[in-house]
Amino acid sequence: MPSESAAIILAAGSGTRMKSKLIKVLHPLAGIPLIEHVLRSVRNANVDDIYVVVGHQRELVEESLEGVTCVTQYERLGTGDAVEKCRSFLEDFDGPVIVTCGDVPLMRPETFQNIISLHNKKDIACTMVTAMVEQPHGYGRIVRSPEGRVEKIVEQKDASEDELKINEINTGTYCFNAKLLFKYLKLIDCNNAQGEYYLTDVVPLLLKDGYTIEGYCLEDPRDALGVNDRIQFAEVENVIRDRIRKFWMLNGVSILDPGSTYIDVDCTIGQDTIIFPGTFIERGTQIGEDCRIGPNVRLQNTKIGNSVTIEFAKSIDAAVSDEAQIGPFAYLRPGATIGKGCRIGDFVEIKNSNIGDYSKVPHLSYIGDADVGENVNIGCGTITCNYDGKTKSRTVIENNAFIGSNSNLVAPVRIGESSYVAAGSTITEDVPKDSLAIARERQVNKEGWKKRRATGDTESQQ
Ligand code: UD1
Ligand code: MG
Repeated sequence: MPSESAAIILAAGSGTRMKSKLIKVLHPLAGIPLIEHVLRSVRNANVDDIYVVVGHQRELVEESLEGVTCVTQYERLGTGDAVEKCRSFLEDFDGPVIVTCGDVPLMRPETFQNIISLHNKKDIACTMVTAMVEQPHGYGRIVRSPEGRVEKIVEQKDASEDELKINEINTGTYCFNAKLLFKYLKLIDCNNAQGEYYLTDVVPLLLKDGYTIEGYCLEDPRDALGVNDRIQFAEVENVIRDRIRKFWMLNGVSILDPGSTYIDVDCTIGQDTIIFPGTFIERGTQIGEDCRIGPNVRLQNTKIGNSVTIEFAKSIDAAVSDEAQIGPFAYLRPGATIGKGCRIGDFVEIKNSNIGDYSKVPHLSYIGDADVGENVNIGCGTITCNYDGKTKSRTVIENNAFIGSNSNLVAPVRIGESSYVAAGSTITEDVPKDSLAIARERQVNKEGWKKRRATGDTESQQ
C-alpha cells in the first residue's frame, strides 16, 4: 500500500518498430536503459511506490530494474488492460497514482510533481498531461468542450476528419485517483478500431458521473516525445544529450563543439574544464576542474583529477591524478591508475598498473600488471612481458628507476630503487637498488668486413 502516491509504468509492448532483438525499453540512452530515465524522473518527483507492467522479455526487464514491483501482462490487450494488472496493489488506495509509459523518457520530475500537487489541492479524478504539437499524427487527440473542458480522448484510428485536425494530444501520462481509476476500469470495453482496452476510455465515464478531469499542457512539447522506432530514438537522444550539455555549460564547463560532444548521465565535470570536439564522456566518468579533454577522447567510467590534459585517447575503468598529461594516442585500460603530474605519451597502453607520481611513459610502451614508483622514466618501446601463456605476473619498478629504451621486463621481476636498465635489455632477474642492469649481447665491430666480403673472406675476424 503506497504512502502518499504511486506510479504505474507501462512497458509490456515489444516495440516491433524498433526491429530489434532487444526489447525497446532496455535500449541504452545516454548511458542507461530507456526505461531507467522514466524511473529516475518518477523517483525525483518523490514517488517511490512504483509498478512496472512488463510483458515481452519480462525476465530481462525485471533483472535490470531495482526497487520496483514488476507486474506481468501476458497478452497485450491495450493500455487499459495493462493498468488493470495492477489492481490488486492499488484498487483501495484513495490517493494519486501516476500512469506513464516506459518509452517516453523526457518527461520531467517537475511535471509529475505538478500533476500530483494539482490532484492533492483540488478534487480531481484525473489530470492528463497534454501537449500542443504541429504533427499530431498517431497520437490520441484531446477533445474539449466549447468552454475548454476535456471531454474525451480519441485515438488516431477512431478519429473523425475534424478530430484529426486537433493539435492537442494525449501524452500518455496521467495522474488518477487510484480508487476511481480501478472502479471505472471495470467498465471499459474493447469496441474500437484496434479491439483494445483503452485506458483513455475511463475519462468520459468519469465525466459522465460528474468527476473533474484536468488537462495539464506541457510548456515544452518535446517532453512528450516517445520512442517507437530508431528515428524517434535518435531524436530523443538528441534532446537528452542537449539537456546534459547545457546543464554542464551552465555549471562552468566549456564545450567547444556541443554537436560532437557526448556526455552520459551519471558523469561529473568540474569548473573551467574545456571539452574539445569529438569527445565521449561515458557513464561513471568524473572529471575535475581546469582539465583539457579532447579532441577525440573516449572516457568510460574514468576518474580524472584537476588540471589534467587528455587528447586523442581512450580510457576505460581507469583513474588519472591531477596535472597528468595523457596522449596523443594513449590507451588506458581497466585498473590503470596514473599518478600526479605523470606523462603518458603516444602509443602507450597501460593496463591494471599503478604509475607513481611524476613518472613518465612518453612513447610506444606496453605496461601491464605493473607497480611503477615515483619519478620513474620508462624509455621508448619498453614492454612488461606479463603473460607467459598461462598466468599473468607483476612487474615492480621502484622509485627513481630509469628503464632504457626498448627493454623487455619479463615478469615476475623487480627493478630496485634508483637503478638503471640499459637500453635493449631483456630483464629476467630482479635488479638490486642503485645498480645498472645490462642484459644484451655485447656489440662486436668487424672492421674491414665490407672489403673482405668482396673477396669472399667474411669468416675471418681481422
Ligand atoms: C497511447 C494513448 C494515446 C496517446 C499515446 C501517447 C491509449 C488508448 N492511447 O496510444 O492516447 O496519445 O499513448 O504515446 O492509451 N502497453 C502495454 N500493454 C498494452 C498496450 C500498451 O504495456 O497492452 C504500453 C506500451 O508498451 C507503451 C504504452 O503502453 O509503453 C503505450 O502503448 P501504445 O501502444 O504505444 O499506445 P498508443 O497507441 O501509442
Ligand atoms: Mg505509442
